[in-house]
Amino acid sequence: MTTLTPASDRIRTDLEDLAALVDPDLPGWSRVALTEVDIAGRHHAKRLMDQAGLETTIDAAGNVLGRLTSPRSGGRTIMVGSHTDTVPGGGRFDGMVGVVAAIEVVRCLRESGTVLNHDLLVVDFFSEEPNRFGLSCVGSRALVGQITADTLALTDAEGGRFGDALAAAGIDAARITGARMDFSRVDAFIELHIEQGPYLEEHGSQIGLVERITGLSRFKALFRGQRDHGGTTPMNRRRDAGCAAAGTVLAVERIASQEESSRGTAGTLTFTPTAVNVVTEQAEMSGEFRSPQGEWLDYARSEILAAAGTEASSRGVDVDFEFLPTQQPVTMDSALMGLCAESVDGLGLSRTTLFSGAEHDAAIIATQVPAVMLFVPSQGGRSHCPEEWTDHAEVTAGVTALAHSIVAVDSA
Ligand code: GLV
Ligand code: MN
Ligand code: MN
Ligand code: MN
Repeated sequence: MTTLTPASDRIRTDLEDLAALVDPDLPGWSRVALTEVDIAGRHHAKRLMDQAGLETTIDAAGNVLGRLTSPRSGGRTIMVGSHTDTVPGGGRFDGMVGVVAAIEVVRCLRESGTVLNHDLLVVDFFSEEPNRFGLSCVGSRALVGQITADTLALTDAEGGRFGDALAAAGIDAARITGARMDFSRVDAFIELHIEQGPYLEEHGSQIGLVERITGLSRFKALFRGQRDHGGTTPMNRRRDAGCAAAGTVLAVERIASQEESSRGTAGTLTFTPTAVNVVTEQAEMSGEFRSPQGEWLDYARSEILAAAGTEASSRGVDVDFEFLPTQQPVTMDSALMGLCAESVDGLGLSRTTLFSGAEHDAAIIATQVPAVMLFVPSQGGRSHCPEEWTDHAEVTAGVTALAHSIVAVDSA
């Protein structure tokens, strides 16, 4: 049996070096896609891949790709990776763990003289987190052909186009669809990630095998009312766009609270003007629903549309609603899960299976090839915040599980 021993100190150094490449003007460890530090982060990942002996490229969608070619593979490939961008005010582990882990697996394979039957393709996916245009998993979507003219036409709060903003990340919008990958010779995708919730900690498990990844529906709404004097305009004569939006924010909470497994978040809300004594003329909000059930997302979409309509019309406010395409829930490959489970058991690590309420590139790649995810615990279940933490021993256990799972998948 092949034994691979990932080096905890190297993993720690790589995570700490990435954590030093952050935006000093934002809280936490922020490396938001489409900013200079995000480019720096991806170039750092490329350097680490180069040093590990991979043949590296940055593709037309900004994905950093590193290939460990095997003389035995005939081009058959196992993909492994995650992302290095963060939410604003995020932590040091979400995404980074999976990229650093994949690179450490390559080092271990080379040091131990292990030759796989597959090429190993390491990926740092571009813009996994929702960027300011509301689009997540940009790099993985480009690989599977989900970037379209509609995607490039998405706008941010200032009315800028996503397609135009890509240049700031060194990406030519006219070429991005060329990043589409031929998956015919890819046999599996494996991603290691922190759990970002409390399940593993509560169950005392070192490794989580993800059974299913949440479905997700995001939307933007623009409420248009009338700007008026806040002191002189009687309450019954107002067309207050802010109140219509606020009612819709609460509707997100009400709708999502109807089902235990559902989630709803209204993450942004902007009033124009922002003046304490002026009735709000325009309010822009964005939100999302998540569920393990695709049908529930359809229900939530129709409910929020109706609620926003009622909140607006009862105040003489107009509303424009825009839904991004629904991302269906995805089931992970059971054969791959079985191979990972055997590897985890062989290492004497404790494990459980769980559902992922967080979205991941794995869900996008799973539309093309069998995919599986391994989770390691998040302290206190905290994530998307500066307090996000996983002990280095727990990360190393995850990397070890990933390394042995890759070897098991390779020889299956
Ligand atoms: C990604 O981290 C998400 O679940 O939003
Ligand atoms: Mn995240
Ligand atoms: Mn992530
Ligand atoms: Mn194979």
